Amino acid sequence: MEKRTWWKEGVVYQVYPRSFADSNGDGIGDIPGITEKLDYIKSLGATIIWLNPCYKSPGDDNGYDISDYQSILPQFGTMEDFKTLLAKAHAMGLRIIMDLVVNHTSDEHPWFVESRTGKDKKDWYIWREKSNNWGASFGGSAWEYDDERKMYYLHCFSKKQPDLNWENKNVRDAVYAMMNWWGELGIDGFRMDVITMISKDQRFPDGQIDGSGYGAFSPFVQNGPRVHEFIHEMHEHVMKNFDMMCVGEGAGCDSEKALLYTAPKREELDMVFTFDHVDIGKPSMANGFQPGPFSLPAFKEAFARWQDGLEGKGWNALYLENHDQVRSVSRYGNDRDYWKQSAKMLATLLFLLKGTPYIFEGEELGMTNYPFTSIEQTRDIASKNGYAWALAHQIPKEMAIGVIRQIARDNSRTPMQWTGGKNAGFSTGEPWMAVNPNASYINVEAEERDQDSILHYYRDLLKLRKESETLLYGLFTLLEKDDPKLFVYTRTLHDEGYLIVANFSQEESAYTIPACYRDGKTMLANYRDESALLRPYEVRVIYKKGITK
Ligand code: GLC
Ligand code: CA
Repeated sequence: MEKRTWWKEGVVYQVYPRSFADSNGDGIGDIPGITEKLDYIKSLGATIIWLNPCYKSPGDDNGYDISDYQSILPQFGTMEDFKTLLAKAHAMGLRIIMDLVVNHTSDEHPWFVESRTGKDKKDWYIWREKSNNWGASFGGSAWEYDDERKMYYLHCFSKKQPDLNWENKNVRDAVYAMMNWWGELGIDGFRMDVITMISKDQRFPDGQIDGSGYGAFSPFVQNGPRVHEFIHEMHEHVMKNFDMMCVGEGAGCDSEKALLYTAPKREELDMVFTFDHVDIGKPSMANGFQPGPFSLPAFKEAFARWQDGLEGKGWNALYLENHDQVRSVSRYGNDRDYWKQSAKMLATLLFLLKGTPYIFEGEELGMTNYPFTSIEQTRDIASKNGYAWALAHQIPKEMAIGVIRQIARDNSRTPMQWTGGKNAGFSTGEPWMAVNPNASYINVEAEERDQDSILHYYRDLLKLRKESETLLYGLFTLLEKDDPKLFVYTRTLHDEGYLIVANFSQEESAYTIPACYRDGKTMLANYRDESALLRPYEVRVIYKKGITK
């Protein structure tokens, strides 16, 4: 069995500060608001909190455009508030990891302000006399001509997010110093934003034109020539000094490359987030806003590839939701007729895989997508630019808003639903973005009362996982891999096993339990009684001691 660590056995709860809890009624979630909710987070069985960026930022990309890495955004509170949060969390046995956004800064960061003068920090960003055909992730060219410097700078995201030049040792040292500063402050690790993109192919060749009309930068930016050298160097300078957990956002990283980032002996990261499962069938600018088909066998195969590929060699980060993805019950389940059943099924399938579970705030309530009908209801730069791009490309308005409704990151960023009362108990003031109208029945208060709620189920599920060495470290094996409706797998260790059986569809499905699990014990299920056929979105977890294979 592999080495046991706190971050393998822990459960991460992701907090999007702007939308979590507003303590002072200005409509914006804040750090004191998070501190007030620590008991709730702990009550779920979560042990680690990941905070989305809460640094000083002009907010072009909701905090992923940082203008000062060592101060807290005033709307969210002060550094004192942050220290209070950290101290309280630690006293309760909770750890906190911070978002590290160092592929780029804000154009308002003093480093960039200085760089564009062409003096001292002139090589801290990527400046060129000529641009190439790369398109930015949020639309338009990835190069912006700067009138002051009279050159182009690279921005893989918005033009207010210039990419740092990691080739420059001074940049790297400044980043490591900043990370060490946070380490000394006592944080427990980092979630590293688009970390696979920090090393660029220095030839900056044109990319292949995709559906957006621009050249794709990915082959020259993701998993670039020096990325492992840089991350290992970061490990030497920072991670080595602390007991940290570091998870990288693995844009463009497949299960083989994941080993290069996460195999412990390479001393880089502890785990990476894959996009393989969430990208299946997802419309984007790059594919011309055309949704592809979703296929369950492909979805299962994506999980299995990572489970098998990393077995005994790396470690998985398990997620369906985050601040960039839509609500899982709306996307993969049925958020109307089988809301409870499908939300419970998804959680069971995901969190009993091998790896560290990540819960995105509200996922544990079965929060759903928002019924967007107009672009004015969105806040995210990706939604606004995507919509404008669609209209400019003759996609009819109705269709464009339809795609936005389906993919908008705003879906997961609506305020957390605490109560059925005013503004869902998120704020006493006007929330920065609208509360989902279903907060009247999807909220913490209502689900605390209902013993059969998704919330209570999450607690049972995480408890089951935590108490079982087999669910933490046992081997994963996918069964029924080609079945278009069933998702079935086992987790086994020594002589015991768990069979996880799910009907990933809204029709009844027949399933014959393998002989060796037939007299096993049902540990968890989302239907009370048993029946011969699996009902819509039914999931069962069956335990058996004395498995012989
Ligand atoms: C990552 C973040 C996303 C952000 C982007 C640019 O993908 O998760 O929210 O927009 O990087 O920083
Ligand atoms: Ca506030």
